[in-house]
Amino acid sequence: MMIKYQNRDQQLIDDAINIVKLGKNLLLKGPTGTGKTRLSENISDSLSAKQYSVNCSVDLDAESLLGFKTIETIDGVQQIVFIDGPVIKAMKEGAILYIDEINMAKPEVLPILNSVLDYRRKLTNPFNNEVVIAQKGFNVIAAINEGYVGTMPMNEALVNRFVAIELKYIDGETLKQVLIDQSILTDEQDIEKMIKLNELLIKMVSQHQISEEVASVRALIDACDLMTIMPFERAIERALVSKLETDREKEAIRQLFELI
Ligand SMILES: Nc1ncnc2c1ncn2[C@@H]1O[C@H](COP(=O)(O)OP(=O)(O)O)[C@@H](O)[C@H]1O
Ligand SMILES: [Mg+2]
Repeated sequence: MMIKYQNRDQQLIDDAINIVKLGKNLLLKGPTGTGKTRLSENISDSLSAKQYSVNCSVDLDAESLLGFKTIETIDGVQQIVFIDGPVIKAMKEGAILYIDEINMAKPEVLPILNSVLDYRRKLTNPFNNEVVIAQKGFNVIAAINEGYVGTMPMNEALVNRFVAIELKYIDGETLKQVLIDQSILTDEQDIEKMIKLNELLIKMVSQHQISEEVASVRALIDACDLMTIMPFERAIERALVSKLETDREKEAIRQLFELI
């Protein structure tokens, strides 16, 4: 069964699904580990649509979006064939295209998608001159990590083509449910400890003592998993503290141990 994206704000989830259903391009904004990929998978699932993903990185090029030519032997004869990339496949199959970390891409690559993302839903593939018209059901969800190293402000013409939803880290009861569902830790008291730690971390984030990503749900799931093989403090050390860059942040978190 598919793991559900959870949020106290059910309207946020409903809106996300309905916006995509309406045929709008949806931009999910939020720091790493806020559940953007999870939510996108849930949206595709609830629309019974297949999902193709592209992960943007600095070396994302037109080929990784649209496809490439290769040589295949068909009936003993070597022929040049074109292998469709995720964008073309999603268009032809009426699937959902998930563009992850869209603000990591080099600015010159994404304009290829402009005509795909607007009302035209159409593209002339420069590699084989095929005119591709998106089938019904084709929709686009993109994700963006704001302020993350290596990201750039998104091109305005591109942002303009999206409707956006901001995701924040879950906490309290919602987080508890997610940790119960997705970590292998079963001890309720241990899970409570993690919820308590998270509360304190959030407070520190709001006081700018640590960066927001420290309280990533992904890291908290890791910490819970580690607690099945080591004590709380070491689990936190390995899953959260050791990954931090500054000693100031590390010390700030270690001081919380006594409070928990
Ligand atoms: N609101 C949420 N509901 C359910 N799972 C969540 C939620 N937020 C984060 N997670 C879990 O945390 C991990 C990271 O989520 P992911 O979707 O990969 O985050 P992102 O794409 O924003 O970096 C996954 O295991 C995911 O299931
Ligand atoms: Mg993701």
